[in-house]
Amino acid sequence: MAAGSFRRTIASQLSKVLDLPPENLIKSISAVPVSKKRHVADFQLSIASIIENSSGDCLPQDLHLQAQQLAERLKCDSVVSAISAGPGTVNFTINRELLAKTVLQQVWKDGSEYGAKSELFSTVPRQKAVVEFSSPNIAKKFHIGHLRSTIVGNFIANLKVALGHEVVRINYLGDWGMQFGLLGVGFQSFGNKEKLKSSPLQHLFEVYVQINKAAEDENTKTLAKDFFRKLEEHDEQALSIWQQFRDLSIEEYIRIYKRLGVHFDEYSGESFYQEKAQEVLKMLEDKGLLQKTIKGTGIVDLSEKKDLSTVSTVMRSDGTSLYITRDLAAAIDRMNKHSWDTMIYVTDKSQSNHFQHLFQILKLMGYDWAERCQHVSFGLVQGMKTRRGEVIFLEDVLNEVRSRMLQNMTSTKTTKETQDPVETAEKVGLAALIIQDFRGLLSSDYQFSWERALQSRGDTGVFLQYTHARLHSLEQMHGNAELTDVNVSCLQEPDAISVLQHLLRYDEVLYRSSQDLQPKHIVSYLLTLSHLAAVAHKTLPVKGSAPTVAQARLCLFHAARSVLANGMKLLGITPVTQM
Ligand code: ARG
Repeated sequence: MAAGSFRRTIASQLSKVLDLPPENLIKSISAVPVSKKRHVADFQLSIASIIENSSGDCLPQDLHLQAQQLAERLKCDSVVSAISAGPGTVNFTINRELLAKTVLQQVWKDGSEYGAKSELFSTVPRQKAVVEFSSPNIAKKFHIGHLRSTIVGNFIANLKVALGHEVVRINYLGDWGMQFGLLGVGFQSFGNKEKLKSSPLQHLFEVYVQINKAAEDENTKTLAKDFFRKLEEHDEQALSIWQQFRDLSIEEYIRIYKRLGVHFDEYSGESFYQEKAQEVLKMLEDKGLLQKTIKGTGIVDLSEKKDLSTVSTVMRSDGTSLYITRDLAAAIDRMNKHSWDTMIYVTDKSQSNHFQHLFQILKLMGYDWAERCQHVSFGLVQGMKTRRGEVIFLEDVLNEVRSRMLQNMTSTKTTKETQDPVETAEKVGLAALIIQDFRGLLSSDYQFSWERALQSRGDTGVFLQYTHARLHSLEQMHGNAELTDVNVSCLQEPDAISVLQHLLRYDEVLYRSSQDLQPKHIVSYLLTLSHLAAVAHKTLPVKGSAPTVAQARLCLFHAARSVLANGMKLLGITPVTQM
């Protein structure tokens, strides 16, 4: 019996009574969340949702009465040990020993795929997804928006992979534009080849700041324009300087992303689409979508009434392309190259209009797949500062969180001696950062606080890491659990049942996050799991218990740790084994 088949078993009984296909019922049966008030039932059928599912008025409106009547018509069996009616729900309790046995077996058997193999996903077709995220601009600041994009995009990609989809992770760099004209000129006056090699991101940024100050004078401006024109005309010398800036920057990005546990399949960027953007302009013209303004710029009319009330500018008056034109070219190119089923762009919400326009133009161009493009946007974060001041590089944030965490760890008495405290501090610190960011809806803005993020108690990433490390050391201390000889009758205490009931819900949580791409469902699930495991850890000791009891408890803790680790990894957190 698989955990998911509880839902199936209930659905098949219901289907006979209600005369509805079991597939229609499966999604109306949900595992009951473990709340503070302990509950007995494990699954719940919502009457309202089956009324929606069925074709009409086969069920009257009195939900409570309906629930009662339905409950009376259902029978207990070897799987379901009790059936009761609640307000608008029918509640099912699974045979206690079967519950324990099944959940433990399933977690054991599916390992990192636990939850992802559930029947909730059986009707979801496997897809190929392009996820574009992070996308910083070379020589400019890596701001908090880029950090958010990095962790959110990584989460979405991880989740899709876990659910069996194929994912292409793309980093679309800001690697073209006037900033390279300035950099080209700036490097001649302020550049240093050694520094460029040793820390390209920092050095290019410095050069860029310096040349920007200098660019107030007309002469520098002209030189920068000339350099950029040379780039656009493929002047070999100019291109090779640009190439070096780009290559060295990417090398460093890769190294830093690695600290975050993030990788990309493709580093592309605006530079790739210079020529292709011209082809796009040609296509727009051929399709009669390109209009010229008096100033000579090229626009596309996006208004419904075609009265130019909403337009998007796609061409400068000198015929060169813009950000959106390059995005049009990039989208078309990605479709040709990857034939994706869905494409996701992750940026802050200030770019929402940009992406809406992008998708609208693609649609006007006749690309139906524009409907399968999605902009996942997120809110602004205020107040992230490091001790050195403003955040300029991703590395600043990583170093700051690591040093703050290290300091917290050394000042706490409970901290154990760990083999590599610096690495542990980094992983725990990153967990803190990610959980703080993922706790709410992505679209909400929030005020960043190091203190709040790094608290060891409460709903933080530190708490998740701590719980994981504790459960891990429990297994270390008592040897690994063996599932084969578990006596599940030893797992009948309310605190053990709560953990099992919570584990039963993991697939539903994955399903919700896969629907709205919000990490918060998984975050709150893992926080609850950690709280429940912490309570069970206290009330259900392994040490000093009879061998069969100890063994059964170890199995329970092993299952909790395994699901905790799975969920943390999806969020982009590397679980630590000591701290
Ligand atoms: N480089 C841009 C920025 O920093 C983000 C790119 C987003 N992706 C895109 N396809 N336009 O604002």
